[in-house]
Amino acid sequence: MDLVLVLVLILTCLLLLSHWKWSSKRGKLPPGPTPLPIIGNIHQINVKNVHQSFTNFSKIYGPVFTLYLGMKPTVVLYGYEAIKEALIGHGEEFNGRARIPIFDMVLKGGVAFSNGKAWKETRHFSFTTLRKLGMGQRSIENHIQEEARFLVEELKKTNGSPYDPTFILACVPCNVVCSIIFQNRFEYKDQDFVSLLEKLNENAKILSTLWVQVCNIFHVLIDYCPGNHNTLYKNFTCLQNYLLTKIKEHEKSLDVTNPRDFIDYFLIKEMQENRNPQSIYTRENLIGMLTDMFVGGTETIKAN
Ligand SMILES: *[C@@H]1O[C@H](CO)[C@@H](O)[C@H](O)[C@H]1NC(C)=O
Ligand SMILES: *[C@@H]1O[C@H](CO)[C@@H](O)[C@H](O)[C@H]1NC(C)=O
Repeated sequence: MDLVLVLVLILTCLLLLSHWKWSSKRGKLPPGPTPLPIIGNIHQINVKNVHQSFTNFSKIYGPVFTLYLGMKPTVVLYGYEAIKEALIGHGEEFNGRARIPIFDMVLKGGVAFSNGKAWKETRHFSFTTLRKLGMGQRSIENHIQEEARFLVEELKKTNGSPYDPTFILACVPCNVVCSIIFQNRFEYKDQDFVSLLEKLNENAKILSTLWVQVCNIFHVLIDYCPGNHNTLYKNFTCLQNYLLTKIKEHEKSLDVTNPRDFIDYFLIKEMQENRNPQSIYTRENLIGMLTDMFVGGTETIKAN
C-alpha cells in the first residue's frame, strides 16, 4: 500500500515536472492547442484535409500558431499577410530550411535542402553557372524549342489516335535539364533515360505517402522499420550512381578552357578550390545539386 502511494507520488511529480518544462518552453512560442505527450497535436489534425484543420486553428489562435507534430514544435503561418510579412518583410531571418529527416537520408548537399553559408554559396554557384549556360537568355530558348520540335514529331507518330501523353510530357522538361547538365538530350526510348524518369516518378509518389510523413515526424522509424522509404532510398541511390558515372565520364574528357555543361563548370571550380578544406565543391554537393535540378525540372513542372 505504502509502496503504491510512493510510486503514485513519484509519478505525479514526474508528470508535473515534464508538464512544467513543456509549458516553460512553450512560453516563447505563438499560441496553439495543448499537445499530448509524444504525439503532440497530430490527433487534432485531419490528415485528409490538413488545410481545413489549419483554417480551424487559425480561427481560434490567429494567423500565427504553434502545432506539435509529434514532439517537434511547428509554427504555422496562415494566410497571405502572415506569409508575406515573414518571407518578404523578414526574408533574411526566414531563409532557413527545417531539417526533413527523409531528405537527410537521401541527399547530402545541394540547394533545396541545405542551410546557411553552404546554401548561399551553392545557390550562388548554381545561379551564375546556369546563367552562363543560357538561363534567362536566348540560348536556353533554343534548347527548349529544339525539344518542343522532338515532342511534336513524337506526337505526330500517333496519327491522331487516342494517346496518353503523361510520360512524354515528363520527358520534355527533363531533357532540357539533361541538356544543361550533361550537354546532351536523350531519345525518348533511351533505356537509361526511361529508367531515370521511372525512378523519379516512383520517388515522387512515395514522398507523398502518409507513411513518409510519419517517418518525418518519428525519425527513428527510418532506421529501424521496413517500409517504402527503403525503396525511396534504393531508387535515389541508383539515380545518384548514374550521375556519378556521368561525372566520371566528364572528368575524363574535361577541357578546362572549354566547359560544355554544368558538370564541367563544377569540376573546374572543384580543381581551383581543392586546397580549401571548407570548399563546397565536393562530389556529394555536386550530386545534391544535380538531383535538385532533376527533381525540380521534372516532377515540379509536370505536376503544374
Ligand atoms: C473545422 O471546423 C468545422 C466547424 O467547427 C468542423 O465541422 C470541421 O470538421 C472542422 N474541420 C477539420 C478538418 O478539422
Ligand atoms: C525502386 O527500387 C525498388 C527496390 O529496389 C525496385 O524494386 C524498383 O523497381 C525501383 N524502381 C524503379 C522505377 O527502378
